Amino acid sequence: MRIRLMTDLHYSALAELPVKDDFYRAYLARFFEEGSEADWYLCLGDLTQYGLEEEYRSVYAIIDSLGKRSSFLHVPGNHDLLTAGPETTETWGATPPIANGFGVIDSEAAVMVFLNTCKTKSALDWGGQLGDLQLELLRNQLAQAGGRPVLVFAHHPLPDTTALSEQDMMRVENAEPLLSVMQGAAGPCFWFNGHNHIQTITSAGNWTYVQTASAICLPCWRELEILPGSIRITSHVVNDPKLYDLARQSLDGFAGFHDVPPAVALGGELDQDALWEPESDGQTA
Ligand SMILES: [Fe+2]
Ligand SMILES: [Fe+2]
Repeated sequence: MRIRLMTDLHYSALAELPVKDDFYRAYLARFFEEGSEADWYLCLGDLTQYGLEEEYRSVYAIIDSLGKRSSFLHVPGNHDLLTAGPETTETWGATPPIANGFGVIDSEAAVMVFLNTCKTKSALDWGGQLGDLQLELLRNQLAQAGGRPVLVFAHHPLPDTTALSEQDMMRVENAEPLLSVMQGAAGPCFWFNGHNHIQTITSAGNWTYVQTASAICLPCWRELEILPGSIRITSHVVNDPKLYDLARQSLDGFAGFHDVPPAVALGGELDQDALWEPESDGQTA
């Protein structure tokens, strides 16, 4: 199974600017069309900048025009829920295996779990939260996985795992109950998130934490290849000055954004790729 994921696109229509939505169109065309065809294309939240219906409809129209809607999955970010909860935003742009921000895709190769970690209409508190719903979902899926890899996809990182996750509102705030559930995992587990806009890969126990940069700060994506007995994570950073220029012009058009320069968003050498194999007993960079 091949999964391509990006995060924090922060789509904004910018109709009043000369650049309009040219960056988003150019980036999404590359994301969906470059390289080998993936089974799933994921966004880990903040697909939109202000969570407006107009933004949802416009960005999904681009995805539709690229013919990839049926293999696209979106877990909400805090920006996506600035104007309404997922029960409403999913009427503007739905990815059906995920409903109300949650979902599970169970396959022979791995169990994929999608968690909504976001507060709704919370412009002044962009931190993450976990409740009984998330806890029970993960507890059940870890038990049912029976040692198969478990891949969790959420917008926020867990505390003290990835870049900036030691800071308030840059992480899930009440993670202790979840961490004790996570310690019971039998097989390899991965937590994929966005929100902090900087590439990071770390690991602790049988969990690997993979944070991906904002696609508008650093036009990039990650690729996951899940094979029987191995999981390979690689990074693809777009090398096209024109795309970076369009991103900069777009960023001039809106406020309330955690802007990270591309060189910082990239992280370090060890934050790009990882390989898990049973005999290696963990990740190697
Ligand atoms: Fe973001
Ligand atoms: Fe965010």
